[in-house]
Amino acid sequence: MNAPLVQAHDLAKTFDVSAPWLNRVLEGKPRALLHAVDGVSFEIEKGKTLALVGESGCGKSTVARLLVGLYEPTRGGLTFDGQDAHAAFKGRNAKAMRRRIQMIFQDPYASLNPRWRVEDIVAEPLRTHGLIHGKAQLQARVGELLSSVGLSPLDRVKFPHQFSGGQRQRISIARALATEPEFLVCDEPTSALDVSVQAQVLNIMKDLQRQRQLTYLFISHNLAVVRHVSDQVGVMYLGRLVELADKHTLFDTPRHPYTRMLLDAIPKMHDTGRARTPVQGEVPNPLNPPPGCAFNPRCPHANARCRTERPALLSLGGIRIACHAVEEGRI
Ligand SMILES: Nc1ncnc2c1ncn2[C@@H]1O[C@H](COP(=O)(O)OP(=O)(O)OP(=O)(O)O)[C@@H](O)[C@H]1O
Ligand code: SF4
Ligand SMILES: [Mg+2]
Repeated sequence: MNAPLVQAHDLAKTFDVSAPWLNRVLEGKPRALLHAVDGVSFEIEKGKTLALVGESGCGKSTVARLLVGLYEPTRGGLTFDGQDAHAAFKGRNAKAMRRRIQMIFQDPYASLNPRWRVEDIVAEPLRTHGLIHGKAQLQARVGELLSSVGLSPLDRVKFPHQFSGGQRQRISIARALATEPEFLVCDEPTSALDVSVQAQVLNIMKDLQRQRQLTYLFISHNLAVVRHVSDQVGVMYLGRLVELADKHTLFDTPRHPYTRMLLDAIPKMHDTGRARTPVQGEVPNPLNPPPGCAFNPRCPHANARCRTERPALLSLGGIRIACHAVEEGRI
């Protein structure tokens, strides 16, 4: 078996969200550290998609930003094609590494400069990385990139406001593809779009993946979308992975009580009449997480061990899971 293209090892990011120093001294407030991502490990094989799911605030975007080097990890690291990516981001080969890993953001309105023509938006990475010389070559390459996402090469002279939301997200994809990256980190790329255009954009992303052997990390809170695009799914809760499995296993036989809760809340495609159960309870304050398993206040299977001992992510029966009840065979 080939080594995976992407390997995150024990990735962690802690934010210091303390009150300013003077307030701390005068009001006796302690330092406050928020463990946004706390020890996340996974692998993604070349050409495959790992989806990350979980409720708002569980650390998905922070993982994305760690993977593309927008954040420096507090602990752990990322191996990309056998190299230490964060060492590369800081070293002489930073540009080469950034070229290979690109990100697509949620909001195609905010991520495109409204005063630039599409041509300049798509060409910017080509210029930054010195990949293109001369006007004719640049126009041809931009035209090619726009065609690859189903837009017209003639669209290059237009401005972002002349496009629909779905088309704007295609422009962002064309721009991300400009440097011929191998790994795309996609943070809720279709969540801001109407349902009718989401499928279009997702299908373009899938076609591009097949044509170019792209590897994706795909973040979404929409489980129907995740089911459509992913090969593997990682479920996150309060900064940690609680279950990691291939898509079919995860959707057909979810094991972690939190994964089950998320899946119970979605309408079934071929509904058997089983009632849909809304997600129960709330995510705890990340500044003051519960001891033991962070899910214990919401978990119907919690016992004394769950309230004191944090479950490790273990390999069990072909999946990875962090739950005492599963490990003990209670569920
Ligand atoms: N720059 C920052 N400074 C301080 N805290 C942060 C920062 N970025 C994120 N956080 C906190 O880290 C936690 C994880 O945030 P993150 O944005 O990664 O979650 P998410 O899973 O992407 O959520 P959503 O689904 O809402 O996008 C949250 O509690 C958030 O408030
Ligand atoms: S470890 Fe305990 S509290 Fe956490 S999910 Fe498993 S059973 Fe529930
Ligand atoms: Mg996010």
